Amino acid sequence: MNNEVKKRILDYFNKDKRIIDNPTCYFYDLAQISRQIKQIQNYAGKNVSLYYAMKANPNKEVISHVLSHECVKGIEIASTGELDIALDSGLESTDRILFTGPGKTPVELERVVKDKIRFINVESLVEAIRINEIAKKLNVDKVDILLRVNIDYFLDGASEHMAGISTKLGIDQKVFLDTFKEIQKLSHLNVCGLHVFAADGVLDYNVLLKYAENVFKYVKEIEPIIPNIQVLDFGGGFGLDYTKENKEFDTKSFFEGLDKLVHEYGFENKEMILELGKYIVGSAGYYVTEIVDIKDCKGQKHIVCAGGVNHMRLPIATDRKHPVYIIERNIPDVYKGQSIVQNEKVDIEGPLCMTEDKISWDEYIENARIGDLVVLTQSGAYCYSASTLWFLSHPLPEEIILR
Ligand SMILES: Cc1ncc(COP(=O)(O)O)c(C=O)c1O
Repeated sequence: MNNEVKKRILDYFNKDKRIIDNPTCYFYDLAQISRQIKQIQNYAGKNVSLYYAMKANPNKEVISHVLSHECVKGIEIASTGELDIALDSGLESTDRILFTGPGKTPVELERVVKDKIRFINVESLVEAIRINEIAKKLNVDKVDILLRVNIDYFLDGASEHMAGISTKLGIDQKVFLDTFKEIQKLSHLNVCGLHVFAADGVLDYNVLLKYAENVFKYVKEIEPIIPNIQVLDFGGGFGLDYTKENKEFDTKSFFEGLDKLVHEYGFENKEMILELGKYIVGSAGYYVTEIVDIKDCKGQKHIVCAGGVNHMRLPIATDRKHPVYIIERNIPDVYKGQSIVQNEKVDIEGPLCMTEDKISWDEYIENARIGDLVVLTQSGAYCYSASTLWFLSHPLPEEIILR
């Protein structure tokens, strides 16, 4: 774990030498976010546009920091709630917004048509018809859209699949061309390209390159029917290593490979959009919670913390642990002979009255005592906002920005 971050965490918890009211928090390291964005900036081809998928971390200071990088073209939203947050975080113009996601309500669609966002990523014929009617009602000549297609391709090596299997996302490739023909009749829609996000959490760049090649082949195949494909939106998917090995997605090789494919297929004039979330903010976040109790029950130790799945839901929900570090604090014992952890496997749990409230499990810990801090790294994406924050009404974790 980064020593400077460790020092900042200790300073925060030891301030005023007292036990703080709410011993749970997230730290976000802005310098690490910049490092990730610079990787994209250094290696991406000229026709690649980077958007930030703010669902990964909708903290306003994080968004505003991401937007401060010139190479970030805008924000991908999944709701108009996110649109409001983006506008409140320094996004000065709605034409830097892409709106993706199933189940957009008519009210949301009307709002984004009025706001003239850059693209609505259309997920179904129903959605296309609704947008067309809204545009007619509002006297908007054309709304720019991308059509999201669920391509018949399964990405081996991803942690979550949006396409290649039956999902609610996008339009099934089997009916895509027929659906396009219906959408073509809707006079207020301007189909500018495709949205093809297929899978999340891909650490091996070759997997994404193979998928990109498959998409390019598909585009060549359908171009005689859909002639105006100017944009290919690949969504997100650059993975993050949740082990202490700290392997990194090889951005350089990915973009070199993508560029090669772009030239092979003659797609230099098509814009390639990336809507990255996890890659940009995942490694910048640290969840920290204090150990409140250590219990020994039927031969198994339980570290009980002030925060649990109410602050950090995805590890148990997706069966994927984060790297765990313990920061010692030398807090005086509650009583002599109290339980401690020493070179053993433990579960690390929260304060909720349910046994699934684990933020880590079967975790080998060298030393831990009551009052020490548990730190889960790689916690910048889909952690705070993907948790059951109000369950049992414990205080929300503080969000602290490390500049
Ligand atoms: C439409 C869309 N775009 C982008 C992303 C961001 O993905 P990632 O965090 O893997 O980069 C997601 C995540 O679910 C998504 O649904």
